[in-house]
Amino acid sequence: MKVDVLLGLQWGDEGKGKIVDVFTPKYDIIARFQGGPNAGHTLEFDGIKHVLHTIPSGIFHEDTINIIGNGVVMDPIIFEREINELKTLNVDVSNKLVISRKAHLILPTHRVLDAASEAAKGKNKIGSTLKGIGPTYMDKTGRNGLRVGDLELADFQQRYDALVAKHVEMLKQFDFEYDFKEEEEKWMASLSTLRELNFIDSEHYISEAMKAGKTILAEGAQGSLLDIDFGSYPFVTSSNTVCAGACTGLGVAPNKIGKVYGIFKAYCTRVGSGPFPTELHDQFGEDLRKAGHEFGATTGRPRRCGWLDLPALKYSIMLNGVTDLIMTKADVLSAFGELKVCTSYQYKGEKVEHFPYNIDEENISANFKSLPGWDKDLTELSDIAELPHELNDYIEYLEGELEVPITVVSVGPDRTQTLMRGLKINA
Ligand code: GDP
Ligand code: IMO
Ligand code: MG
Repeated sequence: MKVDVLLGLQWGDEGKGKIVDVFTPKYDIIARFQGGPNAGHTLEFDGIKHVLHTIPSGIFHEDTINIIGNGVVMDPIIFEREINELKTLNVDVSNKLVISRKAHLILPTHRVLDAASEAAKGKNKIGSTLKGIGPTYMDKTGRNGLRVGDLELADFQQRYDALVAKHVEMLKQFDFEYDFKEEEEKWMASLSTLRELNFIDSEHYISEAMKAGKTILAEGAQGSLLDIDFGSYPFVTSSNTVCAGACTGLGVAPNKIGKVYGIFKAYCTRVGSGPFPTELHDQFGEDLRKAGHEFGATTGRPRRCGWLDLPALKYSIMLNGVTDLIMTKADVLSAFGELKVCTSYQYKGEKVEHFPYNIDEENISANFKSLPGWDKDLTELSDIAELPHELNDYIEYLEGELEVPITVVSVGPDRTQTLMRGLKINA
């Protein structure tokens, strides 16, 4: 069997958590491959609304193994909180959640460094979630990081102390007051929860699972436009969010990747700073935020809203080798009247149809095409055949442009509000 991948094609929050949860009954294993608690993946079912940060979105299903892969960075404090929240919902993770020894640990001082770095950037700040993501990946690539497997070593405390001493030195360059002692105590205490779980070598684990015929779905975090290499740099996150990240973040060979599910909202959102060519700065943008409840699942910040951006989507599809598209939040566009879709950009005075190097506001503006909207509540629909014809036309227009079939249409946050459009999983 090959590993299928589900990932976001925009700036994150496309609905990955919801769709992974919907697909989980078709898979034996769900595996997160990058990012960390900067992610907020929302699941809704049976009247429960739950947000996951580090734990894969397959955790609510009885017979599924969930893997936190080597490409992930984890904060033991947040992880413990997630485990405790799951306990209140009677979800016991002990026999279905495993963690790669090679996943890196976020220390309290990584979070301080994140905050100090953002404060020093002033109005040029990235808009980081302040979870310590950037500094932790910097330590990983700088070959200084602490890994989950280090918890099994006799000299773990010395390694921790050495890294913290390095961070304290680094913090001297910032004019930033901090005190991490209380957080450090919490961090040390929370390690006991982590130690209760099984640590694995995810590359071997997944290889054996594939040989045994197990089905595996890799769950992305963030979105392709936040990728460290291909996103709107420097306003990006610090990991490879594209499909290749699933290979490095789990230890899967590129020729073992199967389907690539690319998920996108029927419009566009972005949280944090950075360019956003189709952003709506008017009442329409406000209305979209309200209708879509567009507030960050991790930080609660309002998400910036705009129209769907086809050149950006085509770029993401190209980078990821998307085989199936999943469109979410079609229901939010109901009753908006005329809809717009960006088909090209004016870039430094010229019309371009690709996603260029520099999408800063002063260089770029969006060219739009108008499409008729639909005035029908989609949230109660149970069959794809019931879609209003304007939405069918919208979907067919997008498929023509994107050259990939849209095989799932999501019409609400709940598990049940998911319409299949010819999707075949493991068939
Ligand atoms: P993720 O980070 O990609 O998992 O997405 P988030 O959970 O951060 O944000 C998606 C939000 O939209 C969550 O509040 C979901 O419950 C919600 N959502 C997902 N799909 C749909 C949909 O089709 N319609 C509506 N109205 N909400 C949705
Ligand atoms: P999910 O998985 C949306 C954004 C932040 C900021 C930038 C860098 O829920 O889709 P970081 O904390 O990584 O240093 O922040 O990336 N960002 C996200 N935006 N969804 C996410 O995750 C995000 N994770 C990070 O807002 O602009
Ligand atoms: Mg999210």
